[in-house]
Amino acid sequence: MTHTHHAGRREFLKRSALASGSLLVAGFAGAARGQPAQPQGKDQKAPAADDVTPVEDLMREHGALRRILLIYEEAIKRIDARVDLPPEPLVSAADLVRRFVEDYHEKLEENHLFPRFEKAAKLVELVVVLQAQHQAGRRLTDQIRQRATAAALKSPAESRILAESLRAFLRLYRPHAAREDTVLFPAFRALVTPAEYDKLGDEFEDQENKLFGADGFEKVVGDVAALEKTLGIYDLAQFTPQAKE
Ligand SMILES: [Fe+2]
Ligand SMILES: [Fe+2]
Repeated sequence: MTHTHHAGRREFLKRSALASGSLLVAGFAGAARGQPAQPQGKDQKAPAADDVTPVEDLMREHGALRRILLIYEEAIKRIDARVDLPPEPLVSAADLVRRFVEDYHEKLEENHLFPRFEKAAKLVELVVVLQAQHQAGRRLTDQIRQRATAAALKSPAESRILAESLRAFLRLYRPHAAREDTVLFPAFRALVTPAEYDKLGDEFEDQENKLFGADGFEKVVGDVAALEKTLGIYDLAQFTPQAKE
């Protein structure tokens, strides 16, 4: 362990102790919660305002995933009600799942998180289940991609089979992402040093830029929003319960 690491760790503990002792003020809370504490060593740089930490990165990707799940849910609703549903938004949503969730987000988890839990012998059973669920999710996406055709959507029998795949996908990913958000990600922070954590943030960002270009996340969110608009579920206010007299 390096000197700077010790310094960073001490600083981090000091801040955490202060934060838990009711000195939790707005600007300070971020440092104690998410941001790795920055040691004052000469080789350390202060985090830029737009630096996204690894866990923050993964969690906002789950946010994008949850919006894609809303698109799937709307598709199921229309199939069940035999309301017209063009295949395009569904196909685009499934393609986003493949490119962004399976080939990017889950790869980050599989390459950078899961091996560290295995090495530390922490949450190993959970990681085994999560890994198997990634595989199951990829099989469901294959099915959805094959079944989401104009012809299938015109056939009650075939569209029912498609709806089953979509339902299975919702059933899989809601608990999957919720468990990662509440158990895996919080535990991850303790497995890496502040310097390693900071470096991982850069690596995640590089990978995102490589696969999706600059502002990759924002572009994906823009794509999701466009699909929501196509299906009439973009306007957030529609989900607010109407006040009753
Ligand atoms: Fe996952
Ligand atoms: Fe995830």
